Amino acid sequence: MQVVFDHLERASLATLPTALELGPLLDGGAQLWVKRDDLTGLGGGGNKARKLEFLCGDALASGARSLVTVGAGQSNHCRMTAAAGAKLGLEVHLVLSGDQPSVLTGNQLLSTLFGAQLHFTGAEESHWGELEIARESLTAELSAEGLSPYAIPIGGSTSVGALGYAVAFIELLDQFDEAGIAPSTVVFTSSSGGTHAGLLAGRAAAVAQGRVVPNVVAIGVATGVNIGWPDVAELANETVMLMGKHLESASVSERDVEVDTRWIGEDYAIPTDAGDEAIRWAAGRGGWILDRTYSGKGLSGLLGLAAEGRFAEDSDVVFIHTGGWPALFAPGGAPLLSGS
Ligand SMILES: Cc1ncc(COP(=O)(O)O)c(C=O)c1O
Repeated sequence: MQVVFDHLERASLATLPTALELGPLLDGGAQLWVKRDDLTGLGGGGNKARKLEFLCGDALASGARSLVTVGAGQSNHCRMTAAAGAKLGLEVHLVLSGDQPSVLTGNQLLSTLFGAQLHFTGAEESHWGELEIARESLTAELSAEGLSPYAIPIGGSTSVGALGYAVAFIELLDQFDEAGIAPSTVVFTSSSGGTHAGLLAGRAAAVAQGRVVPNVVAIGVATGVNIGWPDVAELANETVMLMGKHLESASVSERDVEVDTRWIGEDYAIPTDAGDEAIRWAAGRGGWILDRTYSGKGLSGLLGLAAEGRFAEDSDVVFIHTGGWPALFAPGGAPLLSGS
């Protein structure tokens, strides 16, 4: 039986399937492929469009009239939620870290253009707990005003949101079949854990149906979010449950969860030399646009793993490009243009 998602509430927001492009050879001779989830189409694209299809489907089904979510000052998730609200006619409120800047740039500029209201909390960049508390109190205020808010936690990383990446995993397997390849590993950038949980849910469903699947390796770029919380295996199993009863035998164990945190550097959103080098590498080889907080560090992890000999010569390796380009045009977002 095929893995199907037709029974789930879903808003049509993303341009799917995204392309799977042939990349260059990696150190050690493995072949790189790039899954273009930076081109999901919604408000500048990125991984959150997939999660928002299910989150907004759920919001509309529950009669919500507004969306409330939360993120770091230059949150891509918030920008794409703003775009989803614009498309679906829902008012959007974004709870952000930091203070109101004198000039809006990058994701903040786009979110405002999409019509969202920005609520700056003054919180430090990655004080996720503080931000979630602010999101909860704003949600209560909006409820009291009769705005029927649908609250989306950081990164949209609920089991409903993660469904978007279960879809992506199955989409990838179909593209592997079309290209006649069987990649050993899928590598991607992880922060709040929902992309990871969704990929593992899709993988478990495919395994239960006897399909050949790649390993999934997350490059963690945020401490205190995906390291131990949320529990990625638990979230993945909740996601499998939503996918349907016929997948009862599918399950994700702690052993399936690999988060490599060696590429974060000092902290979330603090650039690394390796990340900047990865940004230059991708731009110069495929015209791929990565950013300093997420996809640049993610690719630096993949390139680092290749240099360590993790991927066999002649194997195929996939990098899911999760997006993030608008942050290049925010203060501190521009990568160094040369390594010196
Ligand atoms: C560009 C980009 N890549 C990767 C991620 C990580 O996704 P997740 O939060 O699902 O772990 C994010 C999350 O904000 C992102 O904006």
